[in-house]
Amino acid sequence: MRIVTAEPLNAETSFEDLKEEITPQSRFFVRNHFRVPDVAPAKHVLEIGGAVKRTLKLRLEDLEGMGTRTVAVTLECAGNGRMGLRPLPAGEPWGLGAVGTARWTGVPLRAVLASARVRPEAIEILAVGADRGRPPDGAEKTPFARSLPLAKAMDPDTLLALHVNDEPLLPEHGAPIRLIVPGWYGMASVKWVERLEALAEPFRGYYQVGRYVYDYADGTPHIPVRTMRVRSLIVSPLDGETVRRGRVMVRGKAWSGECEVVRVQIEVDGDEASQSAKLLPARSPHAWRSWEFAWDATDPGRHVLRSRATDQDGNRQPDVGRSNRYGYGNNAAHAIAVTVR
Ligand code: MTE
Repeated sequence: MRIVTAEPLNAETSFEDLKEEITPQSRFFVRNHFRVPDVAPAKHVLEIGGAVKRTLKLRLEDLEGMGTRTVAVTLECAGNGRMGLRPLPAGEPWGLGAVGTARWTGVPLRAVLASARVRPEAIEILAVGADRGRPPDGAEKTPFARSLPLAKAMDPDTLLALHVNDEPLLPEHGAPIRLIVPGWYGMASVKWVERLEALAEPFRGYYQVGRYVYDYADGTPHIPVRTMRVRSLIVSPLDGETVRRGRVMVRGKAWSGECEVVRVQIEVDGDEASQSAKLLPARSPHAWRSWEFAWDATDPGRHVLRSRATDQDGNRQPDVGRSNRYGYGNNAAHAIAVTVR
C-alpha cells in the first residue's frame, strides 16, 4: 500500500495489485476522514429511526438472520486522480490507486427498511458512521454521515455489508457494518454504520453539502458528487516499464457508475486512429471489466500508450479532467510511457 496520510490513515493500492480482478481486502485502498473508531462487533447495535413506523435496534446476528447476498462492486474514491488536476486542488493527494473491486456480502438495506416500515413522507435514508471529528477547515465536530435518495436505498444491490471477499470486514474498511452503494463514488458507502434514519427533508450535513459537491467556480450551483464517471486504467505494462520488442499484451480495467462500458480505445503515441481493446466479461454489472490489447511494439524507444473508455450512454473519458474546487471526478484518459528495446 502507498500511504497518502498516516493519521488518519489514507492509503492507495499499488498498480501491481490492481491487476487482479478482485482486490484483496488487505490491499484495498483506505479512505478515512477521521481516526478509525473502536467498535466492538459483539456489542455493536445498529439503530433505525426517524420517519419509520417501527424503530429498531439490531445486533449483527439479527442482521445476518435477515438473509445476505454477495455482489462484486467497484469502489472508487471521488478524489482518485486528484493529483492529475490543474490547478492542483487542496485535499489528499491521491494518485490513481484509490479504486478497487471486491465481493461484498451483506443484507440489502431495503430488507432492514422494510422491517422498520418507512413512512410515506420519507425521501432519504441517512447513514451515520461511528467515527467523528473536526473537518480540516475548522467546521464543527461531526460524524461522517451521508444520505441516499430513497430509491437508491431501496435498490436490491445497496447492501449493509458484513463481509468482503469471504472474510469479515477489517476495522479500516468499516467493521462490523458498512454500506456498499454500487455505481456511486466511495463517499456514499458509509463505514462503521451505527444509525440509519429515514428523513422527510433533504440532509444538509457537512459531508453531504459542504464536501462531495462539484464546485466549478463559474457561479453555477454545486452539483452533488454521485455516480462514478467512466474511466479506464492501464495496469500492465506499468508506467516506466521496459518491454521486449514484439507483441506486447497491454491490460487494464474499465468501469462506469452510470452503465456498462462498451469500448476501450488505445492510442499509441497520440495516434488519433486509436484501436479497440478486447473487453472481457464483467463479474457483475457493478464491477470493472478487464480488457486487453495486443500491441505490435516494433519500434525501439519510448512510447506513450493511452486508454480511453466509453460507456453505453456515450460518456467518454476526456483528455484532461475538469478542474473543480475540491478535486473530484478526474476521469481523464490514462497515459503511460513504456520503453521498447
Ligand atoms: N465512512 C465513514 N464512516 N468515514 C469515512 O471517512 N470515507 C468514505 C467512505 N465511507 C468514510 C466512510 C470514502 S470518501 C470512501 S472513498 C470510502 O469510504 C472508502 O472505503 P474504504 O476505505 O473501505 O476503501
